[in-house]
Amino acid sequence: MPTIYRKGRSGRRAIRFPGTKASEGKILEAIPEGLRRKEPPWLPEVSQGELVRHYTALSRMNYGVDTGFYPLGSCTMKYNPKLNEELVRSLPFGALHPLFPEDAVQGILEALWELGEFLKGIAGMPGVTLQPAAGAHGELTGMLLIKRYFEDRGELGRRTKILLPDSAHGTNPASAAMAGFQVVSIPSAEDGTVDLGALEGALGDDVAGIMMTVPNTLGIFERNILRITELVHDAGGLCYFDGANLNAFLGRARPGDMGADIFHFNLHKTFSTPHGGGGPGAGPLAVSEKLLPYLPVPRIVRDGDRFVLSYDLPRSIGKVHPFFGNALVCLRALAYILTLGDEGLREVSAGAVLAANYLRVKLREAYEVPYDGLCKHEFVASTRNLGVKARDVAKRLIDYGFHPPTVYFPLIVEEALMIEPTETETKETLDSFVEAMTRIAEEARERPELLYEAPHNAPVRRLDEVKAAREPVLREERG
Ligand SMILES: Cc1ncc(COP(=O)(O)O)c(C=O)c1O
Repeated sequence: MPTIYRKGRSGRRAIRFPGTKASEGKILEAIPEGLRRKEPPWLPEVSQGELVRHYTALSRMNYGVDTGFYPLGSCTMKYNPKLNEELVRSLPFGALHPLFPEDAVQGILEALWELGEFLKGIAGMPGVTLQPAAGAHGELTGMLLIKRYFEDRGELGRRTKILLPDSAHGTNPASAAMAGFQVVSIPSAEDGTVDLGALEGALGDDVAGIMMTVPNTLGIFERNILRITELVHDAGGLCYFDGANLNAFLGRARPGDMGADIFHFNLHKTFSTPHGGGGPGAGPLAVSEKLLPYLPVPRIVRDGDRFVLSYDLPRSIGKVHPFFGNALVCLRALAYILTLGDEGLREVSAGAVLAANYLRVKLREAYEVPYDGLCKHEFVASTRNLGVKARDVAKRLIDYGFHPPTVYFPLIVEEALMIEPTETETKETLDSFVEAMTRIAEEARERPELLYEAPHNAPVRRLDEVKAAREPVLREERG
């Protein structure tokens, strides 16, 4: 399909703004001569009809949670209730400017403060910041908090290592390294949980902390979590929990009770706010008592009936996002929490775990499931037994009308398919996914070429993913 630049004709317009011609001269005058363009920018020149048809056609080529089942492990692609969108759009929040005086924005400050209180309650931890704009951003913020904590104690020069189980999400080591820590990988035991012996061996006074994905990327909950946090604390370190997988235990267990010092939420996963094509999301952090003095500013603080922005935190790591974070994403999450209530939030995790185990048991005959115990919200299958690549199965699923699962992750499983159904799917949808996956496994044995060439009926055929990553074409060239 041609890009919008290749459509239309010179001089064609989708909209004309009244009175702009007259002000053009004045605007030009205000721009110093040397900074003016030598020639007009190359912009699409299309009629409104062409514009609407172009983007409608593109949207039809796309696949989203509103289109069909999206079992993208680790990404928690659950249905986003439209009520949340409605609430945020129908109330005047979107019209507010963050520089409005505090008195004029009491409503949104209260709403954000309330969300923070809910998140503290869910985590069982005393402090919160809503500023980070994504999970990975929360991780980096958490690492900066750990640095500041040890800086204050005069131990930063010595505590240079962050321990990371090899089942951790990929962003975890990246965030730790980006914050300047040395990453030390801790191997998993045979059952996919952290090898306690290896952990004990790695602990010492050069360790700043551990960073764990809870439950881990195999969908397995660390049954020794209390021992792990105890060992790390005894060695003087801090415990970071990546909570992007909170869907697994929402309303049932609290990271604060497990010994977490930092816990990040992915509002765009657990709390059903849209992922938005990589952003904007929200990755708030809950923190333990020890880290309260270092939280980003401003904090939203309740002062009687009023809500104020407080900068009164001299040891704060500073701002990690302009103003209060992605406020409208946070409001959607608040709407989700309020509509579900305690009982509803508990049902979320029950449904997510049930759906994942249902698929695991239904698929384990056709696919190898290397860690085949009771899982939490997701599980990892492998195509090793079928003699085809995980990517072949993934591409063939597109022909059956499903979004593929996450592939090749976690790295500790060969030819991995990481499947996360979430709680928002019906049994019929799960069954039709099982049927498609089972047929694909049969095809892999009988007609594997069907898989090698898949997808056959998608808007685009199989792409050269390496070329796309190594030689990205990000700019339309004129001419
Ligand atoms: C377990 C886990 N941690 C962290 C992240 C990073 O979150 P974000 O994509 O919001 O940066 C993800 C995202 O896929 C995740 O699944």
